[in-house]
Amino acid sequence: MAIQKTALVTGAGSGIGKAIATDLAHKGLKVLVTDLNPAAAETVAAELRQEGYTAEGHKLDVSKQQDIDALVSSVEVDILINNAGLQYVAKLEAFPADKWRLLTDVLLVGPAMLTRGLLPQMKSRGFGRIVNIGSIHALVASPYKSAYVAAKHGLLGFSKVVALETAEFDITINTICPSYVKTPLVENQIRQQAQEHGISEADVINNIMLEPMPKKAFIEMAELSASVNFLISDAARNMTGQTLVLDGGWTIR
Ligand SMILES: NC(=O)c1ccc[n+]([C@@H]2O[C@H](COP(=O)([O-])OP(=O)(O)OC[C@H]3O[C@@H](n4cnc5c(N)ncnc54)[C@H](O)[C@@H]3O)[C@@H](O)[C@H]2O)c1
Repeated sequence: MAIQKTALVTGAGSGIGKAIATDLAHKGLKVLVTDLNPAAAETVAAELRQEGYTAEGHKLDVSKQQDIDALVSSVEVDILINNAGLQYVAKLEAFPADKWRLLTDVLLVGPAMLTRGLLPQMKSRGFGRIVNIGSIHALVASPYKSAYVAAKHGLLGFSKVVALETAEFDITINTICPSYVKTPLVENQIRQQAQEHGISEADVINNIMLEPMPKKAFIEMAELSASVNFLISDAARNMTGQTLVLDGGWTIR
C-alpha cells in the first residue's frame, strides 16, 4: 500500500485554501489545515474528519516566525500549499506603512520562511511539492494594490531561486496565478472598490474585475484544485519554477 502523503495548506480556514485542503483530503492525503484563525482551521479539519478523512487543524500565522518554527518542528510535510493571503487597497500615499509591511510578510516572507523550514525534511525524504497561490497580480499591476502586486511578483522570483536550489531532488515549486475567484477576500474588495470609485458593486464586478478578462468569468475553486493536483502529480515532476496562469486570457493582450 502506498504511504499516505501529508499536505500542509496555509490560510485553509476560508476561501481557496479551504477548497484546496478539502480536495486534497478527498484525494486521500493527510491534510494539515492551518490558518491565522485557529477556530476556522479546526472547523474545516473537524468537518473532514467527520466525513472520514485525515485532517488536523493548526494555528499558523505565516507572518510569525515563532509559529512557523513551532509547527515545522512538529510535523512531516510532503506537500506545502502557500495560500494564506489578504488584500489592502489604497493609493500608495494613503497606504498605512504597517499594512504594507503586513501584506509583504504574509504574501512573500511567510511562504519563504515556511519553505525554508520544510526543505530540510523534504530533501532528507527525497520528495517535496510546493505550490504557491500567486495571482494575476504576480504578472500585471492594478492601481491601489502596490503591496499585493509587489509581494506576488516577488513570489515568482523566490520560486525560481528555490527551483534551482532543489533541482537535484524530486522537489518542485510552482505558482498558480488566478485572476478573480469569488471568495470572502474578493467580496471585501468589491465592497471596498465600490466605495473608493464611488460606483455600484455590480459596476465593480462588470467594469473593473471582469473587464480585463476576455472570458468574463470568475475562476472556479475546482479549476484551482485540479491545477494543484496536476502540480503535485508525478506527471509534473519536471515542471519547476513555473507559473500556471488561470486568467481568462487577461495577460494575452
Ligand atoms: N480570491 C481571488 O480572487 C484570488 C485571486 C488570486 C489570488 N488569490 C490568492 O489566493 C489566496 C487565498 O485567498 P482567498 O481569496 O481564499 O482569501 P480568503 O480571505 O477567503 O482566505 C484567506 C485566508 O488566509 C488567512 N490568513 C490571513 N492572514 C494570514 C496569516 N498571517 N497567516 C495565516 N493565515 C492567514 C485568513 O484567515 C483566511 O482564512 C491568497 O494568497 C490570495 O492572494 C485570490
